[in-house]
Amino acid sequence: MFIEINDLCKSYHTGEIETVALKNASLSLEKGKTGVILGPSGSGKSTLMNILGGIDRADSGSVKVDGIEITVLSDDGLAEYRRAKVGFIFQSYNLIPHLTVAENIEVIENISKNPVPLDEVLKAVGISDKKERFPRELSGGEQQRVSIARAIVKNPDLLLCDELTGALDYVSALDVLSLIQNISRRFKTTVLIITHNAAIADMADLVWKLRNGEVLDTIVNNTPADAKEIVW
Ligand SMILES: Nc1ncnc2c1ncn2[C@@H]1O[C@H](COP(=O)(O)OP(=O)(O)OP(=O)(O)O)[C@@H](O)[C@H]1O
Ligand SMILES: [Mg+2]
Repeated sequence: MFIEINDLCKSYHTGEIETVALKNASLSLEKGKTGVILGPSGSGKSTLMNILGGIDRADSGSVKVDGIEITVLSDDGLAEYRRAKVGFIFQSYNLIPHLTVAENIEVIENISKNPVPLDEVLKAVGISDKKERFPRELSGGEQQRVSIARAIVKNPDLLLCDELTGALDYVSALDVLSLIQNISRRFKTTVLIITHNAAIADMADLVWKLRNGEVLDTIVNNTPADAKEIVW
């Protein structure tokens, strides 16, 4: 298994109040497969992804990625794990406002071991003609594409996508999903997509339903759809 998460627990404390974000969550996914996490707002989806991506820590439980138990890594070890293995597409795009499109992507390219060439990435996400623009000169969908370009330029083993399509119209959303699917097929990238949109589960090999921090249901899909054929 490429991802193996077992009995993951995480609570947040704000003042006196404890919020249980994950309760004994377990899931696993093979290399090159696509998993979708479905669940209502507040069900723990981003928390799970952040722990898997090494930007937050669990209270207990085990998270193995490509054989590495990441819960026991030091802060430096986690940073190295993120750098070497993980591409993030965040719920907010997190672009650097004073850098151009090309520069936003190069920041990541420059620290990557096996980057995909910049021009290839720009072409893949369909913004080759916008590489000298600044984020504020782009539409929301175009900014989303830059954030995807940044995640894939490092050719990560694991691509984590939080609400990939929430801000996009239907046609752009299908374009973006199809792009992710092509990347996964081409580079054997393991992909995890978080969404509120149950239709997106059609393109997944595995679907987990999260509710109140618990994995309620695991659905295996032996015939994942082409992203372009998804309808909602
Ligand atoms: N830094 C934090 N401090 C305190 N509570 C938090 C923090 N981050 C998340 N939570 C709480 O943990 C729970 C799970 O949050 P999480 O962000 O994982 O939900 P989500 O499923 O991603 O929701 P959404 O679909 O709205 O993005 C929520 O109740 C949330 O309020
Ligand atoms: Mg979230």
